[in-house]
Amino acid sequence: MDKISSIRGMPDVFESDTNYLAELNEVLSKIFLSHNLNEVNTPILEQTELFVRSTGVTSDIVNKEIYSFNDRNEQSLSLRPEGTAGVVRSIIQKKLDNAEHKLWYQGPMFRYERPQKGRFRQFNQAGVELLGFEEGSSDLEIISIVCDIFIELELEDAVLRINHLGDKDTKEKFLSELLKYMKSYKGDLNDNDKEKLNKNPLRLLDSKDVDLKEFLDKGPKIIDFLSPEQINLLDKIQSIFGKYVEIELDSSLVRGLDYYTGLVFEAVSSNLGAQDSFLGGGRYDGLSTDLGGKEMPAIGFAIGLERLNLIKKHKNIKSNKVISFVTTSSKMNALAFKIAQLLRSHNYDIRLETNFTDASLKAKLRKASKLGAKFVFIMGEEEFESDTITVKSFDEDGYQVNMSFDEILDFYKDI
Ligand code: HAM
Repeated sequence: MDKISSIRGMPDVFESDTNYLAELNEVLSKIFLSHNLNEVNTPILEQTELFVRSTGVTSDIVNKEIYSFNDRNEQSLSLRPEGTAGVVRSIIQKKLDNAEHKLWYQGPMFRYERPQKGRFRQFNQAGVELLGFEEGSSDLEIISIVCDIFIELELEDAVLRINHLGDKDTKEKFLSELLKYMKSYKGDLNDNDKEKLNKNPLRLLDSKDVDLKEFLDKGPKIIDFLSPEQINLLDKIQSIFGKYVEIELDSSLVRGLDYYTGLVFEAVSSNLGAQDSFLGGGRYDGLSTDLGGKEMPAIGFAIGLERLNLIKKHKNIKSNKVISFVTTSSKMNALAFKIAQLLRSHNYDIRLETNFTDASLKAKLRKASKLGAKFVFIMGEEEFESDTITVKSFDEDGYQVNMSFDEILDFYKDI
């Protein structure tokens, strides 16, 4: 019979890979808690209309990357390509759009992109949304959370790029100058950029076309249209957080989603190759009203966990602490299970691998060594009779000691 394989760009996460999600979630949730954020969980499936209205009809996500299908009721549904729209939808639906919320979430997102290193069709994001906060200290708080991630995970060669897209007024003035400037270049645009020019000219700024980039470099810059308050915000970010992370002002940064309004930012690392951006976010003051809610200024970001895993130096030492507990006969198993249960309940940081099969002691020791165990707890005939356990160290000194159940419990608690 033909074998069934997984869908392209949706890899199984397996064995040694699996830990990165738990590890990153642990570190990130601690950081989020330290900023007094609450966790939120929205469904993976939403009405397609939510993403059309939020990320925008001109975004790549809605144009080419969304996974949509009709359900049995002919209702168009989509797998979420990102988390912000669902969070805002949920706050509006619960009629909580008149209050402030500091939220974080984590989970799988789906985009029909061409798979390559660091780019998948199913990937995991952790995100933060501060809802109901005007421009000002919430922008600094968001960058402060980003900063904590940089510091705690010791990110390699990471740079935070920031820009400000202005308010409605500045944006209009800038766009009218940009369109004037683009007139002489219109005929040379490729199809993709022509569409951007017609539907959302701001997105021309992040074009991949080298000639157009060069042309735009000499054109109007959004920074020259910003108000003193907006410039001041960019300055503050650099002066407060510049000593913890490398921050670059990048006036070509516009981001791929249509909902952004003020501050936008992206973190990149040269270690990631072509897909160098691992974190992105910004202010989206109009999204709530676009989705039928009240005025609710907001700012947030999301981080790609697969990309983060490629660049973090931080190693969770806990995941190295493996102990193998072995018996030499099945008659000991009931007692051994009782002891294992008791040990785990006193220290959940240790991976206690129980090996109570009929294999020989030699084979069990070999397996423990292969697993990278620090110690093996052995219950043989003698130990069983004397209510003890032998602890064998796999360190260089290789010591072996016999301990009573009470002693081993104390030993286990302190590892
Ligand atoms: P985004 O820049 O589209 O923003 O995605 C954020 C991060 O998700 C990226 O920096 C990247 O690490 C990861 N990512 C995106 N696409 C893929 C992919 N195909 N494979 C692997 N990783 C990927 C957002 O999603 C916004 N919702 C962020 C936000 C929150 N803005 C305001 N609040």
